[in-house]
Amino acid sequence: MSELLKFSDVQLAYQNGPIRTEVIKGISFSIKPNERVAIVGKSGSGKTSLLMLMAGLEKPSAGKIDFHSISLNELNEDQLTDFRKQHIGIVFQSFYLIPSYTALENVSLALEINFEKNAKEHAESLLVELGLQDRLHHFPSQLSGGEQQRVAIARAMINKPPLMLADEPTGNLDEENSLLISNLLLKVSLQYQQSLCLVTHDLDLAKKCDRIIQIENGKLL
Ligand SMILES: Nc1ncnc2c1ncn2[C@@H]1O[C@H](COP(=O)(O)OP(=O)(O)O)[C@@H](O)[C@H]1O
Ligand SMILES: [Mg+2]
Repeated sequence: MSELLKFSDVQLAYQNGPIRTEVIKGISFSIKPNERVAIVGKSGSGKTSLLMLMAGLEKPSAGKIDFHSISLNELNEDQLTDFRKQHIGIVFQSFYLIPSYTALENVSLALEINFEKNAKEHAESLLVELGLQDRLHHFPSQLSGGEQQRVAIARAMINKPPLMLADEPTGNLDEENSLLISNLLLKVSLQYQQSLCLVTHDLDLAKKCDRIIQIENGKLL
């Protein structure tokens, strides 16, 4: 089986009242299982929009998006939500942890909504694996940026989704934490044989991926 995710001439336009903005202008590419792909491009070039399409958080205005044999075009909102839960893990630049939940609760929640038994034990072992054994019962406000991002990574990957998406995951971190987080993302995606699609400005990090995709003004170079 050769492709996990396939874009065929995908376009995306945002409509704000009478104003239509073409953001993705006919993009075709695919990601293989267990492949790490870096997406690079200037600010405003369409990187986040591309990830939103991959996650089924935006619908293409034209073209086809297929995930294995699933055609995302044909799913309704509820089906897309289920699709995301099963197949996609997302890490953003801002961590979006639930402030009133501890590190452990933020991660185990992702399992509990899938009715998994032993959610707490499972979440705890992953957090320990990510080096957070002494932070399990801390709230996000009591954690450093790097620690919060590790919790967010744990939450995104706890269900072992075949595709991890990361949108400038180190954008809010200092150099030392950036290196730690990016190496961690690459390591876990290799370990769990997940595909990883990583938006980054860091060329050294991009070079550690299997492939670099460059986007400019809504088109691939
Ligand atoms: N909801 C929206 N409505 C209209 N235009 C948008 C919207 N979201 C993003 N854009 C525009 O789409 C273009 C690409 O944005 P984005 O995908 O966020 O780029 P990047 O992540 O590469 O910085 C930008 O010009 C941005 O202003
Ligand atoms: Mg962006």
